[in-house]
Amino acid sequence: MSEHSSRDFIHLVLNKIDLVDLIGARISLRKKSSHNYFGCCPFHNEKTPSFSVSQHKQFYYCFGCGAHGNAIDFLIQYERLNFKEALETLARQVGLEMPNTFQRDNKEEIDSSLYTLLMAAGGVYQRQLRQSKRVIAYLKNRGISGIIAKQFGLGYATAEWGSLLNLFGKTAEDKRKLLQVGLIISKEDGKCYDRFRDRVMFPIHDKRGRVIGFGGRIIDQGEPKYLNSPETPIFQKGHTLYGLHQVLAVNHHVPRVLVVEGYMDVIALFQHEITYAVATLGTATTAFHAQMLFRYASEIVFCFDGDDAGRRAAWRALEVLFPLMRDDLQIRFMFLPDGEDPDSLVRREGKVLFEERVIAAMPFSQFFFHALCAQADLSTMEGRAHLAARGLTYIKQLSPCVFRNVLLEELARRTRIQADQLSQQVGSSAAAGAIPVEALLPKKSMSAPMRLAITLLIQHPTLVQCLEEPLPPLVLPGFAFFMRLIELCQQNPQMTTGSLKEYWRGQQEEKYIEKLAQQDLVIPEEGVKAEFLASIQKLLKIANEQSIQQLLSKASLEGLTEEEKSHLSQIIRKKQGSIET
Ligand code: UTP
Ligand code: MN
Repeated sequence: MSEHSSRDFIHLVLNKIDLVDLIGARISLRKKSSHNYFGCCPFHNEKTPSFSVSQHKQFYYCFGCGAHGNAIDFLIQYERLNFKEALETLARQVGLEMPNTFQRDNKEEIDSSLYTLLMAAGGVYQRQLRQSKRVIAYLKNRGISGIIAKQFGLGYATAEWGSLLNLFGKTAEDKRKLLQVGLIISKEDGKCYDRFRDRVMFPIHDKRGRVIGFGGRIIDQGEPKYLNSPETPIFQKGHTLYGLHQVLAVNHHVPRVLVVEGYMDVIALFQHEITYAVATLGTATTAFHAQMLFRYASEIVFCFDGDDAGRRAAWRALEVLFPLMRDDLQIRFMFLPDGEDPDSLVRREGKVLFEERVIAAMPFSQFFFHALCAQADLSTMEGRAHLAARGLTYIKQLSPCVFRNVLLEELARRTRIQADQLSQQVGSSAAAGAIPVEALLPKKSMSAPMRLAITLLIQHPTLVQCLEEPLPPLVLPGFAFFMRLIELCQQNPQMTTGSLKEYWRGQQEEKYIEKLAQQDLVIPEEGVKAEFLASIQKLLKIANEQSIQQLLSKASLEGLTEEEKSHLSQIIRKKQGSIET
């Protein structure tokens, strides 16, 4: 199926869904006016309703925390689904079958025999572990039981150079697959050998439990201590968390996840019945990791070494995570005592004491101010101003929410600058979000009628029907975007604000639409059409003005053709006419 028809399917589903029903089935909504419903926001804690759902826009917006979107966004946020799952849920609800393109995402396009091969290799490693007294003794010595070893599929790659190669690389095609998943390495002369030799093997699973790669630890001393599968089409380190499959397999509900550094940390914690730890695979924390975890848990605790390097790593993580912060999510930082890792610590202290440390981990905001203030001289005005400016660069990235207000207040307290003044700097609307919305439009600010016409059309896509003839080309910031909007609204007569936004999912325009979608124009329902037509009239006038200017400058530079001359006098007459009336 082409991209075009998968888009059509999305719009078919959105046209059939009613956002008010969808949300109303999950939280209680009350009718406020003919098209608007209100309720308590499910995305932040509140007692008085500030969550609005507009029926005609098919768009929700929370005046408290800034949460907003269409039906797909609601399910993504409320039920922590991914895009495809959300669409699937909606499609099912309106009795539509998902077309084939959606059944397979990129990853599933991949030859399934690669997964089979990795699983088989894991099986071989496990068998070899059972046959090696030396490796079993090593694991026992590290406190790992047979049960946990099995749960994590631990194995052993023997010292042979061609163990997997001989088993699974008989034909050229088989060898190609082994290379593709990184289990063998090819030399310059074309000969191949096993990547992992004489190592304890840790299979790395995806969320669904398929083996996608391996980590191998040297048994005694040697370099490198850990050897990992290279990045392959099915194994991307920034998108993978070691242990997540096991965490999800043993826990129905995961309120909290602990993010640690090493394979052995995850396993040792499991061994001590702390079954909610995952490890990044030797990479820094990415926003992707956090988003992946927030689909299951509302609290993430990141473990770092207690030394300077650990604090620097924590700050880097904070910077990556900042834009993700919302009122219903918690992030904490846990700093380990010198020279310890979670593995050594849990073995020394046991589950209870270790979990006390987890619970006492430093809240995100505390670490933020602690680190920020450590670099500022708060005894001088310059130092405090500098702190305020630096703090604001981070706080600005948040949509309006309670957490943002709390940070602003604390920043005000520490810098002795009025909180109001700081708030002004970050703006009060959702527009102050991380993405500089205006960046998508030319730098010069948009003319008022252009902005009004765009905003009205976004909020009331059916207005497109009152455009009787195509607009003449205009040189105005935002005009190209306006033309595109008109085109889309003409193509889909059932277009709503929510489905317009869908056209640009993940692109800059989406942010722009979201911003304008919830802007209150204070125009009564019955005046909307007249306002829209009036703004179009103003645009036509500007178009006229532009043609006049263009023709006049051409006249003075190179002269006009007869045709141009008559056109010019015609539009000048028209302009004078419109001034008189
Ligand atoms: P550590 O060196 O802290 O090892 O690396 P560890 O997890 O404590 O391992 P043990 O206890 O000595 O067995 C932490 C993580 O960094 C990655 C691995 O993912 C490891 O689990 N790493 C480390 C590598 O990828 N390669 C290396 O050579 C070392
Ligand atoms: Mn360790």
